[in-house]
Amino acid sequence: MAKIRAAITGVGGYVPDYILTNKELETMVDTNDDWIISRTGIKERRILKGEGVGTSFMGIKAVNELLEKTNTDPAEIDLLICSTVTPDMVFPATANVIAAAVGAVNAFGFDVEAACSGFIYSLSTGSQFIETGKYKKVIIVGADKMSSIIDYSDRTTCILFGDGGGAVLLEPTEEEEGIMDFMHKSDGNGAEYLFMKAGGSRYPATHETIDNKEHSVYQEGAAVFKFAVTNMAEYASKVMDRNNLTGDDIAWLVPHQANKRILDATARRMGIAPEKVMLNIERYGNTTGGTIPLCLWDFESRLKKGDNIIIAAFGGGFTWGSVYVKWAYDSN
Ligand SMILES: CC(C)(COP(=O)(O)OP(=O)(O)OC[C@H]1O[C@@H](n2cnc3c(N)ncnc32)[C@H](O)[C@@H]1OP(=O)(O)O)[C@@H](O)C(=O)NCCC(=O)NCCS
Repeated sequence: MAKIRAAITGVGGYVPDYILTNKELETMVDTNDDWIISRTGIKERRILKGEGVGTSFMGIKAVNELLEKTNTDPAEIDLLICSTVTPDMVFPATANVIAAAVGAVNAFGFDVEAACSGFIYSLSTGSQFIETGKYKKVIIVGADKMSSIIDYSDRTTCILFGDGGGAVLLEPTEEEEGIMDFMHKSDGNGAEYLFMKAGGSRYPATHETIDNKEHSVYQEGAAVFKFAVTNMAEYASKVMDRNNLTGDDIAWLVPHQANKRILDATARRMGIAPEKVMLNIERYGNTTGGTIPLCLWDFESRLKKGDNIIIAAFGGGFTWGSVYVKWAYDSN
């Protein structure tokens, strides 16, 4: 019997309308357009405005588009996983809020909290439910409202992040395509470089935690930068090596959109030509769980059945890894 693999059979995405430009950031912190572009490659990012709207708002939009594009009855969805560090609430899982809103009445769901690697962790987790033959339709959402945990007086972080999200549908295939391989790693020793201190069980919210701005992202950028390049390139190269792939065999590298300089350095180390690197960081910044599905969403029309795609991510935790996908459809 042929091996069952999980194929990505559709992509949906959503970014909010409001555009926060580098020029507007210049009015908020001591920074400038030239510095931001040259140090990060980011020109603008999207911000979700409005009272009472959280990450699920964007996840619901992305999943509804995905269901429509793939002509999928939401009642057929078996599982919905949401990767996010900005859930609507600590509990219940944002996955369940999304599933209920889109009518996935027969699904179960849970959130994956692995920062910027959350989407690839979720993708490989979801693929296992398909490969075992247990489930037929699994949705993986990656979405974050980073503006809800960013301190807009900290110029070292507020320039980097934005809001947005995407979703993919996984379905079984017996062809040699879909999620072909993956390799993940985490190292809790990296926690000190990138974290949000308060709001969890260790430091619940108090007036003091709020006054000390401990409910927003803390990052030692230079250290994170170094680990990101080394670990993304190492794991993506390992996945390529064990599948006998060279840079020439790869149609696209889909890196987590953290900083254009990180992406350039990662691609260089891996021997992947710059024109094969999916990039949308200049328009969206770092949307954490959202960057990879948003790249697939933006580039979907250029993807061809059989394309070898290497996805690579690195994030807080530290978390990192790579997924090898053979694209399963032509979108035109
Ligand atoms: C944050 C980041 C852009 C900073 O760039 P960098 O080249 O490392 O810059 P440094 O932190 O060394 O700072 C250089 C100088 O620029 C200043 N600076 C920092 N942010 C600035 C800003 N927005 N505008 C102007 N100057 C800024 C610093 O204060 C520092 O000044 P100093 O030399 O007088 O102290 C970069 O480190 C980065 O992208 N790191 C990884 C972030 C990331 O990917 N996080 C998500 C993980 S997935």
